[in-house]
Amino acid sequence: MRPIWNREENIVWVESIDSTQTEMCRVVKSGSTSVTVLGSLEQTCGRGRFGRDWYSPAGKCLAASFALFEYADWERPELLGMAIGLAAAQSLDLEIAWPNDLVLNGKKIGGIIADLPKNPIDQLVPVIGIGINLGITEFPSEIKETASSLVLEGRKSLRPEDALDLILDAISDIPEPRSFQSLQTLWSVHDVSIGKMYKLPNGELGKAVEVASNGFLTVEVNGLIQTFPSAEAWFGN
Ligand code: BTN
Repeated sequence: MRPIWNREENIVWVESIDSTQTEMCRVVKSGSTSVTVLGSLEQTCGRGRFGRDWYSPAGKCLAASFALFEYADWERPELLGMAIGLAAAQSLDLEIAWPNDLVLNGKKIGGIIADLPKNPIDQLVPVIGIGINLGITEFPSEIKETASSLVLEGRKSLRPEDALDLILDAISDIPEPRSFQSLQTLWSVHDVSIGKMYKLPNGELGKAVEVASNGFLTVEVNGLIQTFPSAEAWFGN
């Protein structure tokens, strides 16, 4: 992928923020391009997909958002999140469940969210947020059955800054995500989607059969095969 920051000053770390994602959307809308990567040691209003909260306790998680100015008006913005999820999976040796949940031993360790705010010249600038549970040992009751962290899965914890550095390095080696085919071979090494149950836009449950060469998910619902674009999973709440 194109480098997503130009100078070290474009990468900013803060102690605490409401949400790096919300803040980077504000930055894009303001027309500023001085910050491209924002990390925070803690988030007080972290946002997950589908309007869920994202638990981000101080120093125990990676919480960062990237404004991809170089990818303004990109034709397939959903592939950018898939590419960054792939970079995270490669650099931290994780699995990926379509479209870009980060998984270890069947538990959710992290995830990716995407927004498409408009800058003042009406370009849609992809803002990709990544959250990874590093040293978290206790989760809120509503997610404690499904969530886990590197430490709880027996891995060494990482400092959030070090985890981000590893991911940023890996991003620069990911092929340009013009089509899913450019990611597919690398992606399939980490993919654990097949057989997983997905809640479809109409509320039904479907069993994943395949991640197709266009990046769409093929699911079986009541014996019928249907295909869903990841954009729907991202933006369809
Ligand atoms: C998901 O629901 O799987 C996506 C979670 C994304 C969380 C990250 S943490 C950094 C960035 N800031 C947020 O408020 N959300 C994303």
